[in-house]
Amino acid sequence: MRKIIIAIDGYSACGKSSTAKMVAARMGYAYIDTGAMYRAVTLYFKENHVQITNEKEVEKALNEIQITFRHNDKNNQNETYLNGLNVENEIRKMYISEQVSEVSALPQVRHAMVAQQQRMGKKRGIVMDGRDIGTMVFPDAELKIFMEADMQVRAVRRQQELLEKKQMVNLEDIVKNLEHRDHLDTTRKESPLVRAQDAYLLDSSYITLEEQVEIVVNMAVSEILVL
Ligand code: DC
Repeated sequence: MRKIIIAIDGYSACGKSSTAKMVAARMGYAYIDTGAMYRAVTLYFKENHVQITNEKEVEKALNEIQITFRHNDKNNQNETYLNGLNVENEIRKMYISEQVSEVSALPQVRHAMVAQQQRMGKKRGIVMDGRDIGTMVFPDAELKIFMEADMQVRAVRRQQELLEKKQMVNLEDIVKNLEHRDHLDTTRKESPLVRAQDAYLLDSSYITLEEQVEIVVNMAVSEILVL
């Protein structure tokens, strides 16, 4: 069967990653969490005290960064590696969430990440989630989904995810962080978060994860059948 690219974009904490992961498993496709790549860059910048206003420092750092994903058979998850080290837990922490939108707004960072993402999807058969997948990374993706959800629902979901990782963060702080990131992600100069004209809108506020997955898989299958 012909393989396609499924681009899932949208706001933070709308269920993009969970949906994308499960769709990939159902389709037998690779899954790439592009937010994890920007988070890994942010972690590197923090650990190495890279000044984000200094273009030369940013360029040098980007040349030193290698981001890969490896499957962990124990928890059946794809985990993020930064220069060979597993950083999956670290990049999900709040101090990274608080900085990642500033780092991901830098044109140099975006160019480096987009180039790597395009290489990863060359053979198609991939589900990629992020903010600019349907608009910048793969404008020719055969299926584009744009996810959104009510703020309260998003915040409660994110709090739950953090709790599962034993991080206690109160709801107000999560709402503040999400609003701040929505603002930065949608207003940045370089490829802001915007719904591609040909993306299907999927509001995940009042449907289950299984329903979201079912909707996307059904769309993917019909897309493949009409190709
Ligand atoms: O999906 P996430 O919340 O883990 O993403 C973290 C940040 O990375 C998010 O605030 C915006 C940025 N991002 C981006 O600019 N482009 C992408 N394709 C993915 C994420």
